[in-house]
Amino acid sequence: MSLGQIYARIWDCLAAAVREDSQPFKVMQAATIGLDGSPNVRTVLLRSANEVGNRLTFHTDLRSPKIAELTREPRIALVGCDPVHNLQVRIYGKTRILRDGQARIDAWRTSPDHDLIVYRTRLPPGTRMSHSGDAFDAAHGIPGPDEGLKHFGVVELRPARLDWLDLSENQRALFVRDGDSWTHSWIAP
Ligand SMILES: Cc1cc2nc3c(=O)[nH]c(=O)nc-3n(C[C@H](O)[C@H](O)[C@H](O)COP(=O)(O)O)c2cc1C
Repeated sequence: MSLGQIYARIWDCLAAAVREDSQPFKVMQAATIGLDGSPNVRTVLLRSANEVGNRLTFHTDLRSPKIAELTREPRIALVGCDPVHNLQVRIYGKTRILRDGQARIDAWRTSPDHDLIVYRTRLPPGTRMSHSGDAFDAAHGIPGPDEGLKHFGVVELRPARLDWLDLSENQRALFVRDGDSWTHSWIAP
């Protein structure tokens, strides 16, 4: 594969992950710098990928520790892995947290209801509890359509660097954002 083909494949893989939950790059690990300076990492689901606009998004709870971390240091690294095809993609860039606005409302309204349950907890993520169900109200009926919306945020990432590794081909490629375009180079695997 040429560097141009690899670049196109990366965005194809990301777009496929947005469309289909079963795609390997749907589930990514997102690394931030903790408030105490130590690394922190967690799983997130890729929700949108826009090559032309150079934007990716995932959803999160605005009360979660990663929001405080990204507010202090907006740089993030994502890594995704396709173990069947021996592929890895690493994505580095700066984030912006969408706490209001139409894009966030649209993301909320188009999310399946079971994905929204976590935003309806009365306790912020990470709060210590006596019992596993304590985060939810005891008398919980059918939630209103926007119940939990105030906790829902979209994290937008503008990639500055894409690092692609294909272990089956022993090929590794680096794409660095330069203004509105990308520089492409091979790097040692
Ligand atoms: C399969 C899977 C998918 C997840 N997707 C997300 C996600 O899209 N957004 C998110 O904030 N947390 C997601 N989580 C939970 C996070 O990994 C993490 O536990 C939570 O967000 C708290 O992270 P924090 O304490 O670093 O803020 C997911 C967890 C799993 C197991």
